[in-house]
Amino acid sequence: QAGGSRSSVITAARMLDVESGKTIEHPAIFVGADGRITQIADARTVRWGRDAEHIDLGERTLLPGLIDMHVHLTALAEVGGYQGLRYTDSFWTAVGVANARTTIEAGFTTVRNVGSANFEDVGLKQAIEGGYIIGPRIIPAGWALGATGGHCDSGGLPPSMDRKEPSVIDSPEEARRKVRWLHKYGARAIKICATGGVFSLGDSVGAQQLTLEEMKAVAEEAHMLGIKVAAHAHGDEGIRAAILAGIDTIEHCSLASDETLKLAAERKTWFAMDIYNDDFILATGTANGTEQESLDKEKAIGLAQRQTFQRAVKAGVRMIFGTDAGIYPHGDNARQFAKMVEWGMTPIQAIRAATLNGAEALGMDGDIGAIAVGRFADIIAIEGDPLTDVTRLQHVAAVVKGGVLIKRE
Ligand code: ARG
Repeated sequence: QAGGSRSSVITAARMLDVESGKTIEHPAIFVGADGRITQIADARTVRWGRDAEHIDLGERTLLPGLIDMHVHLTALAEVGGYQGLRYTDSFWTAVGVANARTTIEAGFTTVRNVGSANFEDVGLKQAIEGGYIIGPRIIPAGWALGATGGHCDSGGLPPSMDRKEPSVIDSPEEARRKVRWLHKYGARAIKICATGGVFSLGDSVGAQQLTLEEMKAVAEEAHMLGIKVAAHAHGDEGIRAAILAGIDTIEHCSLASDETLKLAAERKTWFAMDIYNDDFILATGTANGTEQESLDKEKAIGLAQRQTFQRAVKAGVRMIFGTDAGIYPHGDNARQFAKMVEWGMTPIQAIRAATLNGAEALGMDGDIGAIAVGRFADIIAIEGDPLTDVTRLQHVAAVVKGGVLIKRE
């Protein structure tokens, strides 16, 4: 994605180098016309020409733009359960436009969108890249693949209203075909539903829903195409099978056993655990149309997921930052940092999950995830020190994407 048409220099009081964990005073970050960082110098001594635009972010701390590996830009927290049936299909793309802006203004300059109908996320990505709307870099998955009657099929309807999502796969053969189909129409990540879920109606939250063979077929096919696979999985058997199948990132991971955590650590499988969600879901209850069935399932996994997170961090499982925004309001993504610290991470570990690790898990560590020469100048500015108070990340004062100022307070 191109940057501005001219080069720029970004300065501020300090920046957090996420690789070393050290704070650097008075950085001057030089950005080329292609939006990539060309040099990092000391603003007190270095000089620059008039042709470069000077973006002075003042008495603030700079960090790399944040990466949320699990969002649904075209979903709304306030529309739950059957309420969604009231809206026409294109409504979801329309609200996705607003959500994309809210998300980048909250400091998330890259998101992986793991599931949206009708390739809505591919359209958002194209509109953002074309400069028509404002939003983060998007790695779109398009439709999420899953079994008939599973978490990614549409449940909760009688047989006379039978609806089969175009992303249903019931054999390894179908899995391969659907990965190719998604890729053909712009998916740059694949999402599968390996187990049941909280918000799907009529299934059991922990039960495995795709076979090892089906997941292997997805992983092989996606990897052949050069794209990575994310698996929604709450139950231990499903998580384990997904790891063994070679899935790149496992989402939710609520009920993983110690044995499975050990396997994940050995295989270097990434875990994305949305441990903020539970607070919002239980606090809102049925107010936004969420079915009691979903609330009951949430109560069954919410606390267990946080405890699993704590065990996973101790077991050395590699962690990325994924919130499932869309289940709760877009723009609140950074609230999860405090949960991650509460449940066993240091602030720098949590920040690395949302920067360096996200970039590596996406295979984009040459492009994003750090303020470093060669990478895009995706940079946020906050007040204060996030290493002593990680909730500082909930208030982002300025956002730069590819050297272009998106927001400044
Ligand atoms: N999309 C997920 C599901 O329906 C959300 C789970 C949210 N709950 C949680 N404790 N993380 O299963």
